Amino acid sequence: MSYQNITLEIKNKTAQITINREGKLNALNRDTIAELKDAVSRAEADGSVRGLILTGAGEKAFVAGADIKEFLGKSKEEAEAMSRSGHELMNKIANLSKPVVAAINGFALGGGLELALACHFRVASSTAKMGLPEVSLGLIPGYGGTQRLPELIGKGRALELILTGEMVDAKAAYGWGLVSSIVDPDLLIDQSQKLLERIYSRSASAVSAAIVAVNGSSQGKVEGYGLEIRTFAECFVSEDFSEGLSAFTEKRKPRF
Ligand code: COA
Repeated sequence: MSYQNITLEIKNKTAQITINREGKLNALNRDTIAELKDAVSRAEADGSVRGLILTGAGEKAFVAGADIKEFLGKSKEEAEAMSRSGHELMNKIANLSKPVVAAINGFALGGGLELALACHFRVASSTAKMGLPEVSLGLIPGYGGTQRLPELIGKGRALELILTGEMVDAKAAYGWGLVSSIVDPDLLIDQSQKLLERIYSRSASAVSAAIVAVNGSSQGKVEGYGLEIRTFAECFVSEDFSEGLSAFTEKRKPRF
């Protein structure tokens, strides 16, 4: 597969995947999700790769969410299929046999934060801002965020982020355990690489086994993910979501 929306570069045992739709703040459209699935599989199959870094092009955004323009006119069934496809990508990353770092270089919102949550580590630039703003569109997170966020930072703080739809800066995210370190924007990739190199000196098979074992703690949550997909799809037939979408397109505040 050739890539139009991402780049894949393999260097020093690391596959760096950059989401490359800077003009749309790297929003995840359908093609980008397909390309990410392909690139992650390629990195997993490549014996010279020991770890991955995911980041966004430009200085402004990691990923500003799922591509809201693609939500227009979707039926409940289509919304469910879209959510399922997003879950496939996120699960693929979370269960990869090689460690994956999200190098968060700016806005990580909605599907962008969910992508970062699926990674094994999150390193944030000091300029990063994170949040799950879906409720401001009349929607809920649909790429695993309702499950992975509480698992990472606890239910209370997760509910605060999800129900207010507000963003937090890198410092607050660090305080909440949402990111493991904050670095200068210029050093983001170097520091992410350094984190991976601390793992590269260890046994690759033991590292893979550890990922499987740690992920085992979430297995009881499988039903939670299914519930998220169905609830996300149900939002697509609500009046609020229709108003939320119109407001985004018309660049105004929604009237719920
Ligand atoms: N989906 C589709 N397009 C998006 C997008 C998204 N999630 N986020 C940003 N964009 C597009 C904008 O529509 C705009 O495109 P245009 O120039 O063709 O109009 C471009 O990216 C730049 O964004 P803009 O809103 O002009 O930048 P800003 O600096 O004023 O605001 C944000 C930045 C991140 C606060 C704002 O873009 C935003 O709120 N995005 C949506 C976040 C969101 O709700 N994500 C969850 C989706 S479920």
